[in-house]
Amino acid sequence: MNKWIVASAAALTLALAGPATAQQPIVIKFSHVVAPDTPKGKGATKFAELAEKYTGGKVKVEVYPNSALYKDKEELEALQLGAVQMLAPSNSKFGPIGVKEFEVFDLPFILPDKTALRRVTDGPLGKRLLSLLEPKGMIGLAYWDNGFKQFSANKPLRTPEDYKGQKFRIQSSKVLEAQMRALGAIPQVMAFSEVYQALQTGVVDGQENTPSNMYTQKMHEVQKYTAHTDHGYIGYVVIVNKKFWDGLPGDVRTSLEKAMAEATKYANEISQTENDEAWADIKKSGRTEIIELTAEQKAALKKAMLPVYDQAASRVGKGLIEEFEKATQATGTN
Ligand code: LMR
Repeated sequence: MNKWIVASAAALTLALAGPATAQQPIVIKFSHVVAPDTPKGKGATKFAELAEKYTGGKVKVEVYPNSALYKDKEELEALQLGAVQMLAPSNSKFGPIGVKEFEVFDLPFILPDKTALRRVTDGPLGKRLLSLLEPKGMIGLAYWDNGFKQFSANKPLRTPEDYKGQKFRIQSSKVLEAQMRALGAIPQVMAFSEVYQALQTGVVDGQENTPSNMYTQKMHEVQKYTAHTDHGYIGYVVIVNKKFWDGLPGDVRTSLEKAMAEATKYANEISQTENDEAWADIKKSGRTEIIELTAEQKAALKKAMLPVYDQAASRVGKGLIEEFEKATQATGTN
C-alpha cells in the first residue's frame, strides 16, 4: 500500500478516535551501547513493545542501540540532563558520576553463578544499591543480566604471566583497573563503541567481555585467542531520569512498571541462552582460538587477582564487599 495512504488513514483514525488518543504520545528515548541482538538490546525492544501496549499508546519508546546517540560516559550525562529518559549502563559505569558502589559487581570471581547474583539483586542489598542513584537525579528500575566475561588477546592467555605488559581495554571501573594491574597488564579505559577498532589497529592488545558482546561487535575476528575464564560478570541497571519519572501521570507510571517487570523477566530469561549461542558461534567461526584453562591455571588466575579485594575495599567499602559475599552465599532469598 502507498505509504501516504497509510499515513492519511492513520491520521484519520486518530482524528476519529477523539482528543484522548489524538494527544501526542509521551516519548521515552532509551539509549544503549550494544547491538539490538544481545540480551540488553532485546530487553529494550521488549520493554518498548510492552510499554506501548500497556499504556494504550500513550507512551512511545524509541530505542537507540549501538551508541547511535551517545557513548558510555556521555549517555549518563545525557540522562542527567534529560536529553534521554532511559538507559541500561553496566554496573561498571557508575563510578564517573560518583556512584562507585556498583563496582562491587566487578570483583573477580565474586559471583559463582546466576542464582547467587539473584540473591544480591533481588534482595535488600540490590534495593539499597539502587537507592544510591536517586541523589544523582535517576531512579534504578531493574537489574538486567548479561553474563560472564572472557579475556581475549593476540597471544594465548593461560597463566597470569601471559597478561604481563599487555594493554587491555576496560570499562570505566577502578576495580577493573585494579584487576588488570594485579595481572601485570596495562588497563585502558575506552568506550564500548571504540573497542573493535582499537583491537584491529593494535591500540590495545586485548579485552574482556561476554560472548554476546564479543560476537555482535566481531571482536573475535580481531583477536587470535580467547580464554574461557568466566572471571567476572557484566550486568545492567536500568535507569530513568527521576524528574521525568516523577512527573508522569500515576496510571502511566503504573503501566510502565508492569512493562518493566515483564521485560526484566524476559531479559533475564534469555541472557544465558544468548551468551551460550554467541559462544558457540565464536567457536564455530574459527577466527579465534579458544583456550580452555586447566583447573590449576584457573586457580592461578584466581589467586593472582585476590589482591583486588583489598584494593577495592577502599573504593567500595569493606562492609559492602562482605555483605555482597554473604548475600551470594545465603540459602534461599534474603
Ligand atoms: C562494555 O562496555 O564492555 C559493556 O558494558 C557494554 C555493555 O553495555 O554491555
